[in-house]
This record gives sequence, C-alpha cells and structure tokens, in this order.
Amino acid sequence: MDLEKLIQAEISQVLSSTDFKWLGEKYEGKVRDSYIQGDTRILVTTDRLSCFDVVVTTVPFKGQVLNKIAVNWFEKTRDIVPNHLLDVPDPNVMVVKNVEILPVEVIIRSYLTGSAWRDYQAGKTISGIKLPEGLRNSEKLPELIVTPSTKAEKGEHDMPISEEDLLAKGLVERKLWQEIKAVALELFKKGQNEAQKNGLILVDTKYEFGLIDGKLVLADEIHTLDSSRYWVAASYRERFEAGEAPEMLDKEPIRQWLLSKGYKGEGEIPEITDQYRMEIARHYIDSYRLITGEEFKPVPGPALERIERALKPYAVAA
Ligand SMILES: Nc1ncnc2c1ncn2[C@@H]1O[C@H](COP(=O)(O)OP(=O)(O)OP(=O)(O)O)[C@@H](O)[C@H]1O
Ligand SMILES: [Mg+2]
Repeated sequence: MDLEKLIQAEISQVLSSTDFKWLGEKYEGKVRDSYIQGDTRILVTTDRLSCFDVVVTTVPFKGQVLNKIAVNWFEKTRDIVPNHLLDVPDPNVMVVKNVEILPVEVIIRSYLTGSAWRDYQAGKTISGIKLPEGLRNSEKLPELIVTPSTKAEKGEHDMPISEEDLLAKGLVERKLWQEIKAVALELFKKGQNEAQKNGLILVDTKYEFGLIDGKLVLADEIHTLDSSRYWVAASYRERFEAGEAPEMLDKEPIRQWLLSKGYKGEGEIPEITDQYRMEIARHYIDSYRLITGEEFKPVPGPALERIERALKPYAVAA
C-alpha cells in the first residue's frame, strides 16, 4: 500500500494512550507512557503531540518515528556514554533500565533561537550565560553553550537555571556536572556531524541523564524531534540574511500555526483537522529519512493490539 493510504488508514487507529494494568506501575508523561518494574522501565512512545506542554492532538506514526530515531541514536553513541536501552520489542517501545533521573535537563545550543532568543531579546542571561550583544534571531552562537534547566514536576514548565545555582543548590555534584557537560558536548558534536552529512543543522537539544551504581547513563530520548531542533542546512544562510525563519523539521511550524489561531497553551485547543494531522505525519516521516539517512518503514496499526502482544513476555506475575 502506498504511504498516503497507510497514513489515512492510521488516522482512526493512532496510539493515543495505553493502559496495561498487567505491565507494572504506570506513569503517564506528555508523550510517553512508562511502566515501571523495579529496575526495568517500559517506555511506550505514543502518537501524542505536545505543544506548549499541552497534548494538542495525535499524529499517525509519530510514536514510531520518534522511538526509532532515539534507538538509532542510542546505538550510535554507545562509545561516548552508556545508555539505558535494553530491548526494542515493538517500533513504539523501548525497554530500558529504570534509573533515577538527575534533576536537570541538559540543553546544548549552537544557535540563538526559541526560549533562549526570547530571553536574550528581553535582556536576560541564558541560564546565567551572558551572550555578546547584537546577535540576531537564529544566529549561530560563537561557541556551543550548555543551558541547564530544572526538571519540572508534572504539569509545570521547566525553568532555566544557571550553573552556579545548580551547583549551589546541590542538584548535581561539581565533579559529576563536569562529566555531564563533557559528555553532552561530545554527543552534540556527533549529532551535528551526522546532521551535516544529511544536509541538516542540529540546532539545539536536550539530554536527560541518570546514575546506575554511581555511573553516568544517558536516559530518556536522544536527538529526536521532540527533544531537538533541526533546520535545513541548504536554505539557512539565505533565509537568515533575509531575516526569515529557517526551514524547520521540528514542531515549530505547528506551534506557529497554533499561535496564529490565538492559542498559547491555555484555554480551548483550536480544532486540528485530519487533513492537517496527515500533513504533520508526512512531515515526521520525511524528517525520519532526513535525520537517519534511512527510509522509514511504517508498521501499520492497530498499534494498541500489536504492542500488547509484543509486551506479553514482559507481563508482571500476578
Ligand atoms: N531510563 C529511565 N529511567 C527513569 N525515567 C526515565 C528514563 N528514561 C526516561 N525517563 C522519564 O520518563 C518520562 C518520559 O515521558 P515523557 O517524555 O512523555 O514525559 P514528559 O512529558 O517529558 O515529562 P513529565 O511528564 O515527567 O514532565 C520522563 O519523565 C523521563 O524523564
Ligand atoms: Mg520528555
């Protein structure tokens, strides 16, 4: 079946939520459902799309695209840092080591955009970093910057924090923080190199780390469209010079669309048509190819039943 038909068929059978009582204690994030079984965690990436920290719709195949990008990158970066990945029993699922996530999100930026641009424009520092004056929106930064933020409780927004405050508050020990920064920068550089080969710019990204027996482990997701911004390299310079927004692979266009409808994360969510959800699906599938350099092979649904079957071997004894 051609891709258009597959996407269309998927519209009515997207993976919006799961409720596997037999799989362990459930934690529902915005995009992923986690099932916790002691030292193991089962991460199901659903098709939920979150904007402004609110789930606004579902998008066919988004969960598969994201999960597979993360798996691809965990495999590519094992030599830099150990990670939590144990098994991939389904395209939407990762079985991982359950770790205590460190209470900081480690954000690396190579361009001035998003919240960093908004703070800069307002005359604020970026997580305590003072950038040179006269930078423009989407401008390349003189060097990579690490801008941590505190990991918010469910329902709250993450808040930028300076390195100084993060150490003073004892969120992470100084020596460990040095190690985290070095690892994150190395991961990011690898991400940049791969992106470049595929005609993309890795603009910024967020990493989450944990500890196992005192050793640093990369957790959560890596270099996905939910955790990273990617721009198209070929058109960047021209657009930047013309003062135009770069061509983006991330969900910024959807954010802009919502903003144009007057939605900023509060109140009623504007109606997102099936037509638009299909368009977003195409965008995610194209992005997969651009990011990994490989064709995306969608596994059609109904995803819920398929995942349930794939996870039966992980059922906890009653
Ligand atoms: N190996 C791991 N061990 C423990 N927790 C993990 C691991 N990998 C990821 N997580 C956590 O699982 C959750 C994934 O869900 P998701 O990304 O949808 O949530 P979120 O909306 O980003 O976060 P939250 O709902 O916690 O604000 C995150 O809270 C993430 O920190
Ligand atoms: Mg998350």
